[in-house]
This record gives sequence, C-alpha cells and structure tokens, in this order.
Amino acid sequence: MIYINEKSEIPIYQQIYAQIKEDIIGGALVEGDKLASTRVLAKELCVSRNTVENSYSQLSLEGYVESIPGSGFIVKNINEELFFHPSKISDKLRSTIEAYDRESALLNDDSLFYKYNFQYGSFDDSIFPYSLWRRLTAQALLSIDSKKINFYNDKQGELDLRIEIMNYLKGFRGVSCTPEQIVICSGNQHALDLICKIFSKYSPKIAIEEPGYDGARIVFENNNFEINPIPVQSDGINIVELEKSSAKLVYITPSHQFPTGVIMPIQNRIHLLHWATQNDGVIIEDDYDSEFRYHSRPIPSLQSIDQNERVIYLGTFSKALSPGLRMSYMILPKWLLSKYNELFNGYYPTVPWLQQKILSLYMSSGHWERYLRKARLSYKRKHDILVQTLTNLMGDQVIIHGNNAGLHIVLEFVNGEHEDWLIEIAKAHKIKVYPISPFWYIKESYSNNMILLGFSMLNEEEIIEAITLLEKAWFHHFGNPFDGDSNVSVYCHYCK
Ligand SMILES: Cc1ncc(COP(=O)(O)O)c(C=O)c1O
Repeated sequence: MIYINEKSEIPIYQQIYAQIKEDIIGGALVEGDKLASTRVLAKELCVSRNTVENSYSQLSLEGYVESIPGSGFIVKNINEELFFHPSKISDKLRSTIEAYDRESALLNDDSLFYKYNFQYGSFDDSIFPYSLWRRLTAQALLSIDSKKINFYNDKQGELDLRIEIMNYLKGFRGVSCTPEQIVICSGNQHALDLICKIFSKYSPKIAIEEPGYDGARIVFENNNFEINPIPVQSDGINIVELEKSSAKLVYITPSHQFPTGVIMPIQNRIHLLHWATQNDGVIIEDDYDSEFRYHSRPIPSLQSIDQNERVIYLGTFSKALSPGLRMSYMILPKWLLSKYNELFNGYYPTVPWLQQKILSLYMSSGHWERYLRKARLSYKRKHDILVQTLTNLMGDQVIIHGNNAGLHIVLEFVNGEHEDWLIEIAKAHKIKVYPISPFWYIKESYSNNMILLGFSMLNEEEIIEAITLLEKAWFHHFGNPFDGDSNVSVYCHYCK
C-alpha cells in the first residue's frame, strides 16, 4: 500500500519511488514481481500517470526494476545480503543507529528552511569582535614573537596565553594552578581524549551524568571506556549511586549540569571530593559555561575547594567567545604532570600559534573582560525574554529547567507531549527546537517529554515571535499540518 502525503515537501514521485524501493529492499516485493501498471497506480493514488512514470523510471535507472516491453515493470534480483537488514541487528545497536540518524538528519537540515532556530552552541553574529580580531591579528604578526609561526611550539600551548588563563580563572572561578598545569586544547573532546589516554591503563571505566553531555560520552566510548551512567537529581549527580559503582573516574558539569541545568550545592561538592579522596578517584570537572550566570554570582568551581588534587578542570572558549575558534584548556593536578609528559612528550601543539597569540593579546589588553560583560548582558536579556514569554504564554503546562545560567534551557511538558511530536510541529512552523533524547545513555530512563531551546542565536523579537507561534501550535493546534493525518503516530495528549 502506497501512502501519499500531500502536505509533505517531498515531491509525490519521490514518495512513490521511496516506498516501492523500501518494499524491494525489505523483501515485500521479490524478483519477478510485477509492479502495478502506471495507469492503474496513477488512478489508485489519484495522481497523474506522468508522476508514476517518473517514479518507475528512477527505480529502473537504479536497477531495482526492469522495464520489459509488453510486460511492464518487473522487480529485479538484488543481492539482499548487501543491504542493511534492521531485523538482523541487536536492539541496542539499532537504537544507537536510529538516534544517530535522527541527530544527523537534524544537523543536516537546511538552515535556510528555518525561520527561527533555537540552536544551542552557535552564536549571534553581532557579538563576535570581528574588527578587533583583525587588528589583533595584524598586531600578532608584527610582534617580536611572530617568527614562532615558523616553528613547532610548546605542546602545552603558548606560555603567554596560559598565564592569561591562569589569572582569569583565579579571579573568576577561584581556580588555583600554575601555568605548567595548563594544557591548551582544541576543544573539550580533545582534552577528554588526552585524559582517556592517561587513565586507560589505570581505570578504563567512567561514571557519567545521566542525562549528560553526549559529546563527552562519545569520546569515552571511542576510547573503549566502560560507561557507568549515574542519575542526575535536583542537586546534581547522585553521589550514593556513584559510590556504589566501582568507577574511579567521573565526568561532571557541576556548575550548570548539561543538559538539565541543575547546580550542585556545596554539601554535595564536598561529598564528591570526599568520595574521590577516599577512593583514589579523579573528578573531571567540565566548567563549560560558567561565564553566564544571570541572577546570582558564579558558583565556585570544584577545583577551587579541592584540597587533595582530585580534580581535572576543563574550560572552553566555545561558549563565551566562539565555538569556531576550537580553543579550550585543561588544568591537570600536579601529580599527573609527569604522566602527561611521559605520554605526550612527542606530541606537537594542536592549536595554531597565531590563534593563541591573538587570544592572549585579547585577554591581556582587557578586551576579554569587557567583552564578557557585554555578552553576559546581551544573553541575560535574551534569557529573560525567553523565560518570561514562556511563563506568560505556556504557564503551568511546561516546567522550565536550567534557567538563570548558560545559553540554553530545557522545557518539560507536564501533560506528556512527545519530543518527536513537539519537534515536528515546530518544524511545520519553520521553528527548529532540539531533542533531549541524545543525552540519555539508557534511552528507557527518559520520559520523552522535553526539548532543548538554545537562545544565543535569536534576537529578542525573534524569541517572542517564535514562542508565541509555538504556544499556538503546541497547545491550540493552530495550523498544524498533521492534525487528522493518520500517518503521523507520535503521541500528543490532545489527540488521544
Ligand atoms: C557540557 C559541554 N561541555 C563542553 C562543550 C564545548 O566543548 P568544546 O570546547 O569542544 O567546544 C559543550 C558544548 O556544547 C558542552 O555542552
């Protein structure tokens, strides 16, 4: 049975082609089967004969069917072993592949299609200091160290930049370290990859937050670490569950848990440090967006209260400045330095000298602090408008998680509207909202009724317009293309 969705943006001939192809690959149509004649199928589907002919020609061109004069279109033999059979793979692998497909489909969506994009991790172009960056680039190239561009330099990164980072973190996050403990990395995953190499022989098992940052989890998985997901509750990772696991390494985002936004209170921080000290454990603290707290002072980092060197501290310029720079840093406890040097002595730096020099000039001349004040103000306005509009329009139909900090919030739907449905409906209105499901390691633990909204890319008017549209679409079914369409089976409590 072929279904035509007239509201779809996919041309009808492609819909017919895709469904017949699927039947051939899936085995519903086998070698020698005859396709319905173009006239009969066109009549059955109420489409033009030309449309069906186009679908058949495409199938014929790709070798799925053959046009035999006098007999019509006949299914050809395909080597089915070469095809991917979902039924032959394990449920776990299938769900991983499906999640991956869904995520890549989301990422590959033509950004031009969307009028409003609540993307997390990308930025409003108006904030990046382009002209200053150009000026500092020229200054770096004219400086006396400019000859360094012709050399391999320090594997840990430029000393000037490490000193700037040390001073900044001391004042802003209470982090205490020397420049020797700092390694400039090209992003959080690069830092985690190095950490995995350091610990792979000692303890290739990692406790992670559930839900948690999937960008970190993939690094642990690729390094063959055993993953121990530990539930996150309203005060951060469940330390009792962590104690029950035999993991010695834990990766956490205590100051703004990703994605839920919960903050780990001081009692739990002390408890966690105590766990690490007692168990010879190591805590990887990812302090990825601490620059942005809107209605309170920044929370001191775990590293700043650690008396026993149990914390590896990670920070990034991706949230505060730009993800395209690919610059981050890792601060190792002193006792790990010899191991780090032993393993990576032969490595070269990964972040280009010029980029490091520009950033260190930017920081040393006071621009960084000024920029942070400006960015914080701009994101606070967007954050406040988003939270206020959501509260005014959606009221107690939603719960907002993780507000007052960072560049995203999580929206939970109290009546259980399904993530897939919410995303599809938003898409129909040219609004892109994001799933939470990729952040769960054990998918069954997730209630499927949340979405993620990043607010850094949209301006204040766009945020109001988009939320107003979403409220109508999600709660009043205004202009929803799927209403009454039996092919769409995602759950919505209004349609029960
Ligand atoms: C929890 C967390 N850590 C770190 C990052 C950024 O890492 P990177 O330095 O690789 O850009 C992100 C980005 O989304 C994140 O969500």
